[in-house]
Amino acid sequence: MALLIWQDNLNTGIEIIDGQHQRIVEMINQLHNAQVGGHGNVLVGEVLDELIDYTLSHFAFEEELMEEAGYPFHAAHKRVHDIFTKRVSEYRMRFQSGEDVTDELKGMLSRWLFNHIRSDDKAYAETVKQHLNHFARTHQEGGWLGRTLKRLFK
Ligand SMILES: [Fe+2]
Repeated sequence: MALLIWQDNLNTGIEIIDGQHQRIVEMINQLHNAQVGGHGNVLVGEVLDELIDYTLSHFAFEEELMEEAGYPFHAAHKRVHDIFTKRVSEYRMRFQSGEDVTDELKGMLSRWLFNHIRSDDKAYAETVKQHLNHFARTHQEGGWLGRTLKRLFK
């Protein structure tokens, strides 16, 4: 059973961002399933690594998008990502040293992600949406957006 269920009020209205957020939610659910499925720590560790890597790529993408769009609070938003990234790396280190942190981590991730999307991410949505609309009208595919996605999500 899924731990987290996507709710409509999590949508920012930016398709590409909503897709990435949904993927993170899916990966938190996979982490939950790997843990309760009793497949052992190897699988949990793999899912955890994948989840962290994907989330970091998503953060980097969001940060570049905010900057590219000229969002005035992008530096503050990046600091929030950095603090979160530090917390997650601490969990990863505890996990690697054999501690069972999965329950704690799942709780922290789901609370943090939903709060962050509903407040911080929604705050940039308007500026970024306007920029992307403008961008779509004036640029061809393979421009900044295409290149950035290719670089961050290999
Ligand atoms: Fe964010």
